[in-house]
Order: sequence, then structure tokens, then C-alpha cells
Amino acid sequence: MGQNTTHLEPPDEVVAALSDSTRRREFQLYAPALGFEHLRELILDDLGLAGAGAVAMITDGAVAGLHHVCTALAAGLSRLITTDPGWPWPARFVGFAGVPSTAVPVYAQEQGYRLAADQLAAVIEPRSLIYLIDPLNPLGSSYGRDELAAIAALARASDSLIVHDCTYRHFARGHTLVAGLYPEGTLTTYSFSKWLGLAGLRVGALVGPPGLMSALTEVPANPLGAGIQAQRAAIAGLKVKGPWLSRLRAVNAANQQVVSDAVTASGLGSVLVEPSHGNFVAVDIGASGWTAGGLCAALLERDVFIRPGTYQSPLFGERFVKVSTSVPPDWAQRFAAAWSAAVREEPR
Ligand SMILES: Cc1ncc(COP(=O)(O)O)c(C=O)c1O
Repeated sequence: MGQNTTHLEPPDEVVAALSDSTRRREFQLYAPALGFEHLRELILDDLGLAGAGAVAMITDGAVAGLHHVCTALAAGLSRLITTDPGWPWPARFVGFAGVPSTAVPVYAQEQGYRLAADQLAAVIEPRSLIYLIDPLNPLGSSYGRDELAAIAALARASDSLIVHDCTYRHFARGHTLVAGLYPEGTLTTYSFSKWLGLAGLRVGALVGPPGLMSALTEVPANPLGAGIQAQRAAIAGLKVKGPWLSRLRAVNAANQQVVSDAVTASGLGSVLVEPSHGNFVAVDIGASGWTAGGLCAALLERDVFIRPGTYQSPLFGERFVKVSTSVPPDWAQRFAAAWSAAVREEPR
């Protein structure tokens, strides 16, 4: 329960698509450089951007799309702006090209554990890249339309780009795309790792307006195309998205309740954002005497893997741990038992 991946029995259609592709030995082929046309269309459709003039390119997971943006566009960027807590990789990617980054602290209840427009205004400069994770891994917060509009207005006024990392969008209770508010300056990342549970297949996408995408599609990071079998599985998953998401969201919500109840009953810690908009919950353990790493180690001794906040937050990492919840219900019960036993130990 430490990687925000999904561990439920996958849809039969996805498994059948993989078997069929294997039987037809498609693994011997390269895919089109930007991915199967059908998949590109289905993704735009899923985002509600079909007919909006946006372009999708298939990438080796969302992270490869992020890497491509951060390296291909680096020469035109002054700074990357993101949040702490957040996801560290894009700042490291631009860092290779000498682009500095700023991680704005957002670990505060009064601002809903997310980036406030006035915080952004204080650090934005012309040609910034705002890397906005929404829902926010690891805290589970998400942005309302007005908040995104304020962020988009700052970006537009400073000729900055927004990368809207929507990896966890399918778990959110309502979600607005920045692409709808600032279409000309927004790139949206898309992942199949979390909602469909295809993390090991490495397939995702990058979506944006033709003007921004042309630089990225002209020289793709992987011109030989993302894995064909992964793309077949993704297409099959999108076709059964409705029933699959109903089941997934129900399991995720029930597991989050189990985690929350266990935390409350133990008297140690509190869930930060409830309900979480992701397939994970962050539990504040500040003032408990435990370090995040110590508590995770105590759970691991009981065969339960959760993440210390230090993985995603230099500033606040010792104050929280993160528990992934798109898992079979008995895993959540195991977590509950392990948590209540571990917190009775001497803090370490
Ligand atoms: C915020 C965020 N973006 C991107 C990714 C990577 O997604 P993918 O598996 O599609 O590369 C992750 C994975 O944990 C993530 O948390």
C-alpha cells in the first residue's frame, strides 16, 4: 500500500486484450510514434477534450511525458514552480538543464493543503513552468474551478506554462481541467497506472494544444512508440471505464474509511484530507514521537508497506505517512490491524 497502484482483479476485457495481443505476437512490432490513433482519440474523449483542438501523444507512462516536457522545453523556461509536498521528478528533470525550481509549502489546513494563488503570485516569473499535481499526491487535496482560474490567470499574464498532472483524476469527486481555462498554455498528463492498474505496462499520455505539442511530437522521446500490448490494454480499459470506475471508486472509498477509522481508534495521527481525492490518504503523525520512517518500518515488520512523507516532502516529510487504498479490502483490514499494533510500540 505504498505506490498508489491498483491491485484489484483487473477487468476481464483488459486481460483478454493482453492475451490476444500476445497470441498475435504484436510484441514483435513497433507502435506508431505517437501511439495508436484510436487510443489517442479515446483519451481526448475521456478528458472531455475531443473536438477542442487538443492533441494527444502516447508516452511510456505519464512520467515519460513529464520528462519529455521538462527536457524538450527547458531552454525556454525560467523556473519550475511546484508544491512541497509534491512529486519530485519534474523538478529533477528540469534541473538537468540548469532550470531552477521552487517548491511552495502547502502543508497547511487553512489553505486546504494546496497551492494558493497568492503564493504563486509571490514566486512566478515570466516563462515559468507551473507543475500542478491535481489531485495532489501525497495529500489527496484537489483544486476547485475558481482556484484553477486564478492560477491560470497568473500563468497567462506571465507567459508561463502549466503542466496539469492529472494522474489521479479518476479518483476525484469532481475535477476541473486547467486545459479548459487556459487551453493555449496548458499541457495535461494522463496515466493508466492508477485508475486502470497498468503501472507495470508503462503507458500514459501527454495532451495539449497543437501550438505547444508540435515541439514535443516532432521529436518524441520514444519515436518507436509506446508498448503495443500496453496500448491494447489501455484501449480495452477505456471501453469498460464506466463499470470499472464504479467498482474501483467504491472499493477505494470503503478502504479509505477503514484506514481513517483505524487511525482514529488508535489515537495516533489524523487523516489530513477527508475525503481524499486520490487513491491514498495522508496521515499526519506530527507530535506523536514517531518519525515517518520509524512508523513505516514498524508496519513493514507486519508485512504492510506504506510510504513515509520524506519520499515526497523535504519540508514536512517527517510529519506524515501515506497509505494507498485502491487495494483488495482485506489489505485495508491488514493495515488496520498492523497500525493499531504498531502504534502501541515505543515510538522510533
Ligand atoms: C503525481 C504523479 N505523476 C506521475 C506519476 C507517474 O505515472 P505513470 O505511472 O503513468 O508514469 C506518478 C506516479 O506515482 C505520480 O504520483
